[in-house]
Amino acid sequence: MGTQESNGQTGTTGRRALLGAAVLGAGGAVLGMAGPARAAGAQYTGGGLKSLPVPTVIGHRGASGYRPEHTFGSYQLALDLGADIVEAGDLVPTRDGHLVCRHEPEIGGTTDVADHPEFAGRKTTKVLDGVPTTGWFTEDFTLGELKTLRAIERIPANRPHNTLYDGRWDIPTFEEVLKWQDEQTRKRGKQVWIYPETKHPTYFRKLGLGLEERVAKLLHKYGKDRRTSPVILQSFEPTSIQRLNKLVDNPLVVLLSGANSRPWDFVETGDPRTVADLITPKGLREIAGYAQGIGPTLDLVIPKDADGNLTTPTTLVADAHKRGLILHPYTMRNENPFLPADFRKGTDADAYGDSFGAFRTYFATGIDGVFTDNPDTGLLAREDFVNG
Ligand code: G3P
Ligand code: CA
Repeated sequence: MGTQESNGQTGTTGRRALLGAAVLGAGGAVLGMAGPARAAGAQYTGGGLKSLPVPTVIGHRGASGYRPEHTFGSYQLALDLGADIVEAGDLVPTRDGHLVCRHEPEIGGTTDVADHPEFAGRKTTKVLDGVPTTGWFTEDFTLGELKTLRAIERIPANRPHNTLYDGRWDIPTFEEVLKWQDEQTRKRGKQVWIYPETKHPTYFRKLGLGLEERVAKLLHKYGKDRRTSPVILQSFEPTSIQRLNKLVDNPLVVLLSGANSRPWDFVETGDPRTVADLITPKGLREIAGYAQGIGPTLDLVIPKDADGNLTTPTTLVADAHKRGLILHPYTMRNENPFLPADFRKGTDADAYGDSFGAFRTYFATGIDGVFTDNPDTGLLAREDFVNG
């Protein structure tokens, strides 16, 4: 069962104090120092959530700002850049029940499947969490078939340079990730953390491909199903986290989309609550009964106005901390279209805006960490933030 773990921090001053403690606890490793220099002093093994530097920099889908997402190229680079945790990976199943790392079951946008004539007949339209979706779906492929595909850049208009790496890597399995985590931990002399997410759990359970038992079985097999294991589990569906809470002891995080949205499991079960209900004191207290944190969209931390500019922070950080929940919002990206309007520079879709300014503003709210496609930027921003 998951157990409650609070860091008891409530504000910016507390963040900095905790960060200092984390640095000392990590053998004096200096924040912002990536790779071997940092590894020399840092040993997080067995420390649980409290051993992570705060604000924690989480490599979103690896270092997906620089490599096609959810590939070992992306995961490896995230570690090389110094990410504290790698989001390896978003998990979806194959037809024969293996877990693979893709952001969603449809793989037309992130692999070269369209170039494989042998799979042309697999293209179809399905209703995925209420949304008609056309393409190729992992649940229609065996693992052997998926392994013949190669990953490509999802958003070449924003990341044209990443297309250099199209075709270089295959689709990782979750089991490969768990082995890679151990190899990298040994090689770097520093505990590598991962942050897998169960994707569309209700959709897959209805197909007879339940995710949580498969995740738990692999975590158990590799001895990573404990409260202090360096594996945080996340899901947008609260019932998936509740199910995991009964299967494993890992830290658990409930992801939260926009305030007016409803988790898909709530839709399926007729639970009328929206995310707005889940972030009330009552909703947060309930989440704290089975999870250790929340992963809100950044807009729940600082809403934007009609022009896309940041406004005033909400009370979510303080409210969540009061219930002992950490916050790991998503997702910080350097390119203009993904930044708040007041942090953009020009209008080019592949140009960077004032990402450091945006990181600084979000860190100042007291968040415990952030998912980012650009972990190197996040680490420098943290260094600036910590040093005031
Ligand atoms: O898992 C945090 C963040 O990744 C949630 O968004 O859609 O990128 O999985 P998504
Ligand atoms: Ca994710």
